[in-house]
Amino acid sequence: MTMWKRHQKFERHSMWLVIGIVIVVSIGGIVEIAPLFWVESTIEEVEGVRPYTPLELAGRDVYIAEGCYGCHSQMIRPLRDEVERYGHYSLAAESMYDHPFQWGSKRTGPDLARVGGKYSNDWHREHLINPRALVPESNMPPYRFLADQDLDAHAIQAKLRTMQRLGVPYTAEEIENAAADLNAQVDPFASATSDLRRRYGPRVNQGDFDGDPKRLTRLDALIAYLQVLGTMVDFRTYEAEDPENLR
Ligand code: HEC
Repeated sequence: MTMWKRHQKFERHSMWLVIGIVIVVSIGGIVEIAPLFWVESTIEEVEGVRPYTPLELAGRDVYIAEGCYGCHSQMIRPLRDEVERYGHYSLAAESMYDHPFQWGSKRTGPDLARVGGKYSNDWHREHLINPRALVPESNMPPYRFLADQDLDAHAIQAKLRTMQRLGVPYTAEEIENAAADLNAQVDPFASATSDLRRRYGPRVNQGDFDGDPKRLTRLDALIAYLQVLGTMVDFRTYEAEDPENLR
């Protein structure tokens, strides 16, 4: 009876009930969210993860502009069928320099988180120009025009600087040399010890990506981006904190 008396206020006045529900429900939210403001980082750093080169960053912008995320996710979940099909499940660190991240939730096509190195540059060029030439049952649209559009890289320094502002650790030297590094990456004759590799590591893919060495196109940038996806961490040496979670 006394309990009912105390509850009367809530049960008779819907506004009090709503306020009561909001207070009770928000306790759970506060318990989960508040600690995040005090921990340094929620992402475990992993060896090998580096910021994108200027060309890869430009390719990422092509990927976003063309809406590839509408059909492709970039997050392999730690489930057996996904790991067997796509490779090691995605680590948070692998998208720590992605602003905005491209995890996605729609998979009309396959997940692309580890597509880097899976195919040759030629395969990507042919596939993007005419997907059905390689995969007859594909319903992916052709992106032939990317091969005809020069890459507009006039804002590449500003892009790196913007990323730096968002927390990507580009150095002053990398920003300074953004345009030079962008051009060096598509130069098939650039030396293997170029400044680009000194800045971004010896495993950077260099070469002519779109099969047309005379031009720097949006297709060059997009393929350079696709080829680096999921290749930064060396999973032969990477050890998960808790190997039980692997599969
Ligand atoms: C309408 C949906 C759709 C859109 C938009 C789309 N794709 Fe696809 N994509 C697919 C489908 C379906 C496949 C699987 C068949 C195939 O390989 O063509 C695929 C396959 C791929 C593959 C091969 C993946 C693998 O592991 O075999 C790559 C790479 C790819 N797409 C890149 C892109 C890029 C880059 C864009 C944006 C420029 C894009 N896709 C836009 C549907 C789409």
